[in-house]
Amino acid sequence: MGLANILGKVRAEAGEHWVFRFANGLEVHTDPFMRRDTGRVLPIGGPQDVILNRLAQKPDLVLGKHVLDVFAGSGILGLMALKLGAAHVEFVDINPRACEFASENCRRNGFAEGRWRVTRASVEDFQIARPADLLLANPPFVMTPAGIEGTLTSRAGADGNAFVEMLLRRHDELLAPAGESIIYLLQLVAGGEPLIARDLRLVRNRRARFTPVQEVIAPLEHYTSGYLLRFPQHAEQVRKWDADLRARHGEDLGVQHYVLRLLPRGDEPTSWSVENDLAVEFGEGFVYPAASLRDLALGRVAENFILPG
Ligand SMILES: C[S@@+](CC[C@H](N)C(=O)[O-])C[C@H]1O[C@@H](n2cnc3c(N)ncnc32)[C@H](O)[C@@H]1O
Repeated sequence: MGLANILGKVRAEAGEHWVFRFANGLEVHTDPFMRRDTGRVLPIGGPQDVILNRLAQKPDLVLGKHVLDVFAGSGILGLMALKLGAAHVEFVDINPRACEFASENCRRNGFAEGRWRVTRASVEDFQIARPADLLLANPPFVMTPAGIEGTLTSRAGADGNAFVEMLLRRHDELLAPAGESIIYLLQLVAGGEPLIARDLRLVRNRRARFTPVQEVIAPLEHYTSGYLLRFPQHAEQVRKWDADLRARHGEDLGVQHYVLRLLPRGDEPTSWSVENDLAVEFGEGFVYPAASLRDLALGRVAENFILPG
């Protein structure tokens, strides 16, 4: 039996904002998805819902804990942790607009000032007050061909791993040994392995569990044709990006969404596995069915797209 979706999320519009309300009373404002601004603040969609439902279903994960929400955006992940009883949440984002949304969202929900702090900085070098008990992250992860400017929320270098690598390099410093991380990712998959698996050597003595969110791995072709459709003026760079990825990682290159959990530190060297436990650990109904994967790829590409004015 899987976990039910208990979020009760509904979306409304209020002036220039999108407003998301949850069954437990949390209210979070974001920018609308297509705001013409490379610094727009991300609305709440599938990736966030998967993590939020796990927290709502298992509040002991956050109750009384010190939580770090890196790449915070609107603050949605840390805001849910505060709503569920976290002792303190530290939000970190490089975008001043995101920091304003996160602060306003904390105030809007009446969270006492002593329970949260918003830091405008890069995850690469921000100063932490204390290692966290729980780290939550939905970093920029969209593979982005060179020459496409993209958006702050989503562009993540040619292979999509620029920011998760940045995070893994600091992971052991940011998280207490007994703490754990929940990180949402989009990954190129070569030979059944998410590319980021090879960088887990940056993390000491933890078990890493990758939970696939798609029913099946999608062909890279969906993303290439998505870029060609949205960015025809960059067609040459898109084709070169596709060819370079295949030259580096093999012709049989796919794409999968995962939630990555890094469990508390133990005695064994870091190891990883792929576990088909989405329904049991996060909730039923969050899986992306095979038939939706072309549209999903188009949607991810659209995260990097600014409508012409
Ligand atoms: C995919 S969005 C996620 C936002 C939010 N956590 C959510 O789930 O809705 C990624 C966020 O990372 C921020 N970001 C990009 N580069 C960053 C960096 N070097 N350090 C900190 N934040 C960064 C962006 O401004 C954006 O708000």
